[in-house]
Amino acid sequence: MSKTQDYIDQHIDRFLTELFELLRIPSVSTDSDKKGEVEKAAHFLINQLEDLELDTVKKFETPGNPIVYAEYCPHDDKPTVLIYGHYDVQPSDPDELWNTPPFEPTVREGNIYARGSSDDKGQSYTHIKAVESFRKTGTELPVNVKFILEGEEEIGSPNLIPFIEEHKDMLACDMVLISDTAMFAEDQPSITYGLRGLAYMEVEVVGPNRDLHSGVYGGAVENPVNVLCEMIAKLKDEDGVIQIPKFYDKVKSLTKADRDAYKQLPFDEKAYKESLDIDAVHGEKGYSTLERASARPTLDVNGIWGGYTKEGAKTVLPSKANAKISMRLVPDQDPKEIAQLFTEYFQSLAPDTVKVKVSEHHGGHPSVTDLDFYGLKAGAQAFEDIYHEEVLFSREGGSIPIVSDFKRVLGVESILMGFGLTSDAIHSPNEKFALKDFHRGIKTSARFLEILPEFADK
Ligand code: BES
Ligand code: MN
Ligand code: MN
Repeated sequence: MSKTQDYIDQHIDRFLTELFELLRIPSVSTDSDKKGEVEKAAHFLINQLEDLELDTVKKFETPGNPIVYAEYCPHDDKPTVLIYGHYDVQPSDPDELWNTPPFEPTVREGNIYARGSSDDKGQSYTHIKAVESFRKTGTELPVNVKFILEGEEEIGSPNLIPFIEEHKDMLACDMVLISDTAMFAEDQPSITYGLRGLAYMEVEVVGPNRDLHSGVYGGAVENPVNVLCEMIAKLKDEDGVIQIPKFYDKVKSLTKADRDAYKQLPFDEKAYKESLDIDAVHGEKGYSTLERASARPTLDVNGIWGGYTKEGAKTVLPSKANAKISMRLVPDQDPKEIAQLFTEYFQSLAPDTVKVKVSEHHGGHPSVTDLDFYGLKAGAQAFEDIYHEEVLFSREGGSIPIVSDFKRVLGVESILMGFGLTSDAIHSPNEKFALKDFHRGIKTSARFLEILPEFADK
C-alpha cells in the first residue's frame, strides 16, 4: 500500500476527532442569528488548510458568508482539480426528534450522527484529509489542487455565482471534484452524472380583510384556504403531469439508451417502500421510480398554512392562505423561465373573489456531466480500487446549483463522487454518515488524486 493510504489508516481516529470539532459548530446558513457560527466554521477550515502548507489559503468576504479558498499548484503539465464543498448546514429542527443533539456528534453502530455529518461537512472534509496524506508524508501531489468551500449552498449559493465569474482566472481548472451526493446503495459506489435544478415559489391567497366568524359569513364569502387547495389541485392532473402551459417545452426526453441504462441499475423497489413505510410509490405515469426521482421534473407543496391550527375548534373563515411550492427541474429547463410560467398560470387560476400574490425564492439550474470525460473514468477507478466494487453511473434528484455555473463559467465538468447514502437523513433529524465511508472516502479521494494524471494522458 502507498504511504498516503497508510497514513490515512494510521490517522483516521484523529481525523474523526477533528471532524467532530467542525460538526459542533451550528453553521446554519438559513438562520441570520447563526452568522457568527458560520464564520467560525470557515475559520476552522482555514486553520485546517493552513496546516497543509499550500501555496495560498485565503478567506474572501462576500455580502453573505465567507468563501474559503486555497491552492497548491506545483505543476505546469498536470491536471488541476478544483475541490468544492459547503460548510453551511440545514437547520436541525425538529430538535425533539433527534436521538442525540444535532450539534453534539456521536458515533453509534458505525455511524456519525450530527447535522452536517453527510451534508456536507463530513463528505467535503474527506478531500482535505486526502491532500493532508500527501503533504504530511512528503509524497509529491501528482496534480494541482484548488479548494473552494462555501457557506451558502443551502440558501442557493447567492454569492458564489458572482464570485466564480469575478475570479475565473484564479479558479481555472480541468475539473471540479465534489462529494455532496449519495452512493447508489451501501457498499455500492456510484458517480452521479446528473442533478436536478430548482424553482421555488411562495404564494399567498387573500380573501376578506380579516378572519371572520364562519357561521355569520361562511357560505357567502370566499374562503382563501379552500381556494388555495383548489388551485393547488389544478397544478397536476391525475397522471401526475404538471399542467403549467409550456412547462415541459424544454425538457430533454429520455432516449432509449438512457432508459436502458436506468433499467440496468440494481434498484430494489420493495426495500425502497419498506424503508419509507409506504404501501405504494407514486408519480408521473409511464416512468419508473428512479426516472421519476431524478430525470423527470416535479412539482411539490413544501408547506401550507392558514386559518386555525391550534388546540380545539375555532369556527373561523380565514382571511389568508399561504403555501411554499417547489419544482425540481431537468435539462434544459431554466429556473427563471419556469418561475415566470408558474406565476402566470397560478394567477390565471385565481377566482375574482381573492387576490393572489406569487413570489420567488432561490433556485438553481439542472446539470448533466459528459460520461466520456476522463475525470469520471479516473473517479470510477479510484472508487473500485478502494471499495472493490464496480462503479455505477446514475442521476440524482437533488440540486447543487453551482455545478451548472462551473460548466458555464469555467467550462469544466464536475465529478460527483458521493460517499453518503440516500438513507443518511440529510436535512432530517438524525442525519448520519457511516464511519467506514468517511474512511473509505478519504482513501478514494487520495487514490483519485494519485491516478488522475494517467487518465489525462490517455
Ligand atoms: N447535497 C445536497 C444536494 C443533493 C443531495 C444532491 C442528495 C444529490 C443527492 C445539497 O446540499 C442540497 O440540499 N441542495 C438543495 C438545493 C439548494 C438550492 C437549497 C436541494 O437539493 O434541495
Ligand atoms: Mn449538500
Ligand atoms: Mn443540503
